Amino acid sequence: MKLIQHMSLTSRIGLLFFLVAILTFSAVGTYLYRSLFSQLEYRDDQELIGKITLMRHLAEESASIAAIRANPHYFLDAAASHDRLIVMLKEVDGKLILHTNPDQGSLPVISVLPADMTADQRAITLLWTSSGLAARAIASKGKLNSGEQILIVVARTASDRMELLKAYRIEVWIAALVGTLLVAFSGYLLVRRGLRPLRLIAAQARSITAHRLDKRLDIASTPQELHDMVQAFNAMLDRLDSSFQRLSQFSADLAHDLRTPINNLMVQTQVALVQARSVEDYQALLISNVEEYERLARMVESMLFLARAEHTHVVMNKSPVSLPEELQRIADYFEGLAEETGVRIVVHAQGKVYADAILLRRALGNLVANAIRYTPAGEVISLHGETRIDGATIRIVNPGPGIASEHIPHLFERFYRADAARTNTASSAGLGLAIVQSIMVLHGGKVAVRSAKDGLTVFSLIFPAK
Ligand SMILES: Nc1ncnc2c1ncn2[C@@H]1O[C@H](COP(=O)(O)OP(=O)(O)OP(=O)(O)O)[C@@H](O)[C@H]1O
Ligand SMILES: [Mg+2]
Repeated sequence: MKLIQHMSLTSRIGLLFFLVAILTFSAVGTYLYRSLFSQLEYRDDQELIGKITLMRHLAEESASIAAIRANPHYFLDAAASHDRLIVMLKEVDGKLILHTNPDQGSLPVISVLPADMTADQRAITLLWTSSGLAARAIASKGKLNSGEQILIVVARTASDRMELLKAYRIEVWIAALVGTLLVAFSGYLLVRRGLRPLRLIAAQARSITAHRLDKRLDIASTPQELHDMVQAFNAMLDRLDSSFQRLSQFSADLAHDLRTPINNLMVQTQVALVQARSVEDYQALLISNVEEYERLARMVESMLFLARAEHTHVVMNKSPVSLPEELQRIADYFEGLAEETGVRIVVHAQGKVYADAILLRRALGNLVANAIRYTPAGEVISLHGETRIDGATIRIVNPGPGIASEHIPHLFERFYRADAARTNTASSAGLGLAIVQSIMVLHGGKVAVRSAKDGLTVFSLIFPAK
């Protein structure tokens, strides 16, 4: 078994060809041999039946046993057609009258047909003569003209037939062997040729590297049977390619976003070190540094969260959470910040959502922080929560500049910011919505966004039922 597993496909199919060929050839050879065997036997048997019938006739025409002894040549002539034939005539008490072929040995006792019964194949038995030859034989009573009965035995040794069959057997085996080898060899060649497309695919696949992930296997030049495989392979390349690009983009973005706060820290500190400063100056520097550190810490923490969520290492603690209570809690939490920017938060909610309370709070926090940032002073942000049979939906609605439609498909990507002006500000890392999305994925739900220019922006969190 192990050996077969390690064999190449070509050798495997070649071996199968060989086995099938040897089985077929042996079966056909055996069949032909058997059929020749029984035909020859049948022919011999017919000859035996003919002979015994003839002997009975001759007996009927003989006057008496004494007459046969005196003139046996009718019988001898009838038996002389070939030297494999043995004819024995005996008296009922077993005394030999005539034996045409004594050198082939005498015949053992076999069952005897009555004189008036027609001889047929069923009466023929296989026996061994006293000299060890296999023979087919038939025995019958024969009635003489005088009314006396004699015993007639006709036998035919099978040695000529056996020799013929032996030669035939050898020929059949040689033919089978040669045929098998021919089939196996041509099978091997055919399989090698048939598998050429596979080798071509392998060669194409070998030329695809991390730098050439845009290359695809050529489906037009592959046979039908391999289309599925080639398609699956190409689809895998598509996925790898896009993951690879996202990963490269992601590390580029990460480096870029880490560079800004670190540069700020470095430049500010270097400037401060150029000359001696007052204690107030140092304090101001440290306060500014702390802000940058906080930004870095937040970013690293967000990155860690996203990485863990991607590999679902986040422990989920789902329970029914009251929507009015939870949304009100968020509204209260952001009250201070909202007041500062002159916006109000209102809650319209009923029912419960089946969710992890801490993750839900984190998602809502990110959405409300965004909403506060983009809502003009004097306007109102509303938090809606409702439940239906198929789950719960939370909507965060705020008026504001809106999000241009070209940004919408990318909004949930990491480090994506729609307004270029904010790209390098300390408050914006572009990770908030990515986190919201991964939290929704963890819940088996999704996040959707709708936005009108200078109108309402609506983020919907759609949770499945428990
Ligand atoms: N309510 C909104 N109105 C208008 N634009 C929005 C709104 N919410 C998000 N955006 C746009 O989507 C971008 C991505 O938001 P996201 O929360 O992912 O990042 P961020 O707020 O810039 O940074 P972070 O949340 O990591 O501090 C934002 O930069 C902003 O351009
Ligand atoms: Mg945000």
